[in-house]
Amino acid sequence: MLAHNYQRAEIQEIADLTGDSYELSVRASRTDAAVIVFCGVRFMAESAKILSPGKTVLLPNADAGCPMADMISAEELGKLKSLHPDAYVVSYVNTNADVKALSDVCCTSSNAVDIVRAVPGNTVIFVPDKNLGSYVRRFVDKEMIIWDGYCPTHHHVHPEEVALLKRQHPGALFLCHPECRPEVVGLADMVTSTSGIIRFAKEDTHTEFIIGTEEGILYQLRKNSPEKRFLIASNGFVCPNMKRTRLEDVVAALEQGRHEIRLSPGIIEKARIPLERMIAMGAAATQ
Ligand code: 13P
Ligand code: SF4
Repeated sequence: MLAHNYQRAEIQEIADLTGDSYELSVRASRTDAAVIVFCGVRFMAESAKILSPGKTVLLPNADAGCPMADMISAEELGKLKSLHPDAYVVSYVNTNADVKALSDVCCTSSNAVDIVRAVPGNTVIFVPDKNLGSYVRRFVDKEMIIWDGYCPTHHHVHPEEVALLKRQHPGALFLCHPECRPEVVGLADMVTSTSGIIRFAKEDTHTEFIIGTEEGILYQLRKNSPEKRFLIASNGFVCPNMKRTRLEDVVAALEQGRHEIRLSPGIIEKARIPLERMIAMGAAATQ
């Protein structure tokens, strides 16, 4: 049972592993369990299926999607590729399987800068997150053609509310997810994935942090450092899709095998290449 860091506390509590998108996909590719119950959103469970096609992968709540992933279709990516035939296609993992199948490599928030830097050529098509794309652009000397997608949950945070919190808590560090707007990311002391935020807050000596990501992350933050204070950067910083999965859905998944992820063998075969390439590039970068 794998659970993303945004899941409800009671789900994270019983999971075998909690983590960010990268950690969960690596774990899904290496497990010897016959069944993976993926508590997250659909693109995450699809990635698990693509990486472990022989396993049964269950998404306990079939309606748990990701609106950002739905902001680009395979048809739209196909058209963009035909306009830039020499560009290397980097897809954020927050994409549907048929979009991955048309991509050269995937990335997550924890490795996007390294991946874009490492890919061949000087032109990159980056889909679907314009905020992550513009964050990566700051560090990479390549032409980036960036799709106009975004995460509604992160995009709704405005710099004024973060600036106000920073004034009210001058000793706090602001830890921010790169799916936030560039004006918000520009205020951050640290920009990283959900697990990156959890690790940083645990190891850093500050005692107060403003957290620029979905509030489900508070469970791990407070568990690791009960003596520290964590303030969420914006009211209502909630991903409704991440919250769809409830304990009763997990019970139904375990007892009745609901809801199995099914993808065509052709899509699995093609989508596997960019995901495995990402994992191989990630392993090479940490050696
Ligand atoms: P992480 O990979 O940082 O956990 O992010 C996943 C996600 O969906 C953020 O909105
Ligand atoms: Fe998708 Fe945003 Fe929810 Fe992450 S937080 S799953 S990007 S809608």
